[in-house]
Amino acid sequence: MIDPISSPPQLPLIAPSLLAADFANLADDARESLKAGADLLHVDVMDNHFVPNLSMGPAICESLRKSLPDTYLDVHLMVTDPESLFEPFVKAGANLISFHIEVCDDEAHARRLCDRLGELGVHTGIVINPPTDVERVFPVVDAFDLVLVMSVNPGFGGQSFIPEVLEKCRAIKPLLRENQRLEIDGGINPETATQAIESGVDLLVAGSSIFSLDRDSWSERIRSLRS
Ligand code: DX5
Ligand code: ZN
Repeated sequence: MIDPISSPPQLPLIAPSLLAADFANLADDARESLKAGADLLHVDVMDNHFVPNLSMGPAICESLRKSLPDTYLDVHLMVTDPESLFEPFVKAGANLISFHIEVCDDEAHARRLCDRLGELGVHTGIVINPPTDVERVFPVVDAFDLVLVMSVNPGFGGQSFIPEVLEKCRAIKPLLRENQRLEIDGGINPETATQAIESGVDLLVAGSSIFSLDRDSWSERIRSLRS
C-alpha cells in the first residue's frame, strides 16, 4: 500500500472521488480507476446535516476494504459530529480520516479530535470550506498530516471550481513540513488541476472529471490531471 504522507510514490497523487462512481458497481469502478493509474481512493461521507446530502457509511468502506485490501482509503467526513464516526471508519479500514474545521468549537477541540485519530492509528486531515477564513486552520495545521482545501461548497459532485481557494493553498503550503500534504477537492479537471499544482497542491481529488467518461478514457484523463 502506498503512503501518500511520508513516502508518496510521486507527486501529485490522484484520488478519484467515489461519489461520482456507479454505486451499483462500486468495487469495479474503484478497481478500474486504480488500474487506470489512480494512487488512492477518496471516500465522501455526508450526514445530510453538515451538508444537504447523504452518501456512504462505514459498511461501504468496509466492503471496499475487503475488495481492495492494498488500497489507501482517504475518508472525508462532511458531518457535524465526526468523532462518533472515527472508530467505525477505522474499523472499516480507513487509512486517512479528515474532518472539517467548521465543526470544531475552537483550536483545542480540533486538536483533541486530531489526537483521537492519532490514537486510533490513522493519518489525520483537517478540511476547510471555501467561505471559511484560511486563518481558522493556521493555528492547528502543525497537528495534522494533511490539509484539505475545498474548492467547491461540499455536498455534491460535479460543481464548478472556485478559483479564489487557490490563494488559500498558497497561504497554507509554506506552513507545511516535508511530511505534510496539501489536498484539494471539488471541480478538478485538467485545467484546474494545473492551477492547483502551481499553487502547491500534492493530492488532487477528482470525481466527475474521471467517472463521467467512458472507462477506456480514464487512464488518459488521470495522466492529464497529473501534469
Ligand atoms: C464534494 C465532495 C467531493 C466531490 C468531488 O462534496 O467532497 O469529493 O465528490 O466531485 P467533483 O470532482 O465532481 O467536483
Ligand atoms: Zn471529498
